[in-house]
Amino acid sequence: MNNKTASRRKLVQFIAGSPLFAGIGTALSAQRLDDRDYIAESAARAVNVFDMENVALQNLNQAHWTYISQGVDDELTLRANREGFERLHLRARRLVDVSVIDKSTELFGHRLHSPIIMAPVGGLGMAHANGEIEAARGAAVTGHKMILSTAATYGIEPVSEARGEPVWYQLYPTDVWELTQGMLRRVEAAGSDVLFLTVDIPGRNQDRMRRFDQNDESCVECHIPGTTFADKAMLQELDVPARINPAHPGMDWDFVKRLRDSTSMKLVIKGITLPEDAKLAVAAGIDGIHVSNHGGRADESGFATIDSLPEVAEAVQGRIPVIVDGGIRRGTDIVKALALGADAVCVGRPYIWGLGAFGAEGVARVMQILDSELEIAMKQAGTPTLTDITRASVR
Ligand SMILES: Cc1cc2nc3c(=O)[nH]c(=O)nc-3n(C[C@H](O)[C@H](O)[C@H](O)COP(=O)(O)O)c2cc1C
Repeated sequence: MNNKTASRRKLVQFIAGSPLFAGIGTALSAQRLDDRDYIAESAARAVNVFDMENVALQNLNQAHWTYISQGVDDELTLRANREGFERLHLRARRLVDVSVIDKSTELFGHRLHSPIIMAPVGGLGMAHANGEIEAARGAAVTGHKMILSTAATYGIEPVSEARGEPVWYQLYPTDVWELTQGMLRRVEAAGSDVLFLTVDIPGRNQDRMRRFDQNDESCVECHIPGTTFADKAMLQELDVPARINPAHPGMDWDFVKRLRDSTSMKLVIKGITLPEDAKLAVAAGIDGIHVSNHGGRADESGFATIDSLPEVAEAVQGRIPVIVDGGIRRGTDIVKALALGADAVCVGRPYIWGLGAFGAEGVARVMQILDSELEIAMKQAGTPTLTDITRASVR
């Protein structure tokens, strides 16, 4: 914390607590610090996920911060994701017994104590030296499910060990089938049973990041052992050709079916935003749909995932689970997502901020904050269980 912020905070705390000022307490307590000035000294002192963002912003170098925060092009989709939630309103029901809140759910044969899942994020070494291992330690404290990215800094084995159970896996298949298969066998051997195939980046335009040189001294610190996709932990010990395309722009429904037939893992497609694609996914025998635009890092449709969700849910008709992510920052956002047809949600940047701010403790705190905000939002909506949350919970 810088000295100015510290002394401002101390002054406000002193004034608020002083009997001298008891008579004007209301006016003073309304004078809260600007949120952007608040730098939490510990994970416990972060009261919401934005507090974690402030600390992470202070801790991380500019290249890493840019990588995490950026969208594509003019960042219309990135902004839309957040604005979509802000436009929706919760309908606050009264006089419903909400003394016991149950936010547990069942997903892909697993019992989850909470519908919040940690989204796959590539190269978490950018936020903490122990990357995904540290994130998994945080997830182990709170018991949340975690999805490991193909582009992770660490491999699935140590991450699953740190999590205390096999993590789920996100696949960038690459355009080499043997490589896809090699990864799948490794993931299956690690005990993972849910596979997320990411399909939303056949191409993208990350302007802000292109201004940085990945081989620059400030950037390479987190790239272990190197900066190319072939250097990623999940590709080690596989026969990787000199030129591969991680996102495989040639992917189509035939590829999906081939992939589905090559593994016994549950297969979820991540990156669906349109009802016609959702229908094709159901027809292809897929186990789940993940409505996502990669956190505004893929298409520049300018369309929020929360706005895509009702159409997709309508097309799916409850036949398979629907997960959504993009811009979820508050418990109220989660209730809104469940009300519009999601069975579970993922968060990306919030837990990266926690990781960059306070390591595993920061990750655990972010997930606790979201869980407890969800409980409060469920109380406000008069929905003691997740199944009580319906379309009538929002307007
Ligand atoms: C820094 C960063 C890296 C990401 N890497 C991946 C990845 O490797 N694979 C993937 O499927 N999605 C990736 N995503 C997208 C997330 O899985 C998720 O869809 C997104 O972060 C959700 O939006 P939110 O950050 O607003 O919560 C990444 C997101 C961020 C912010």
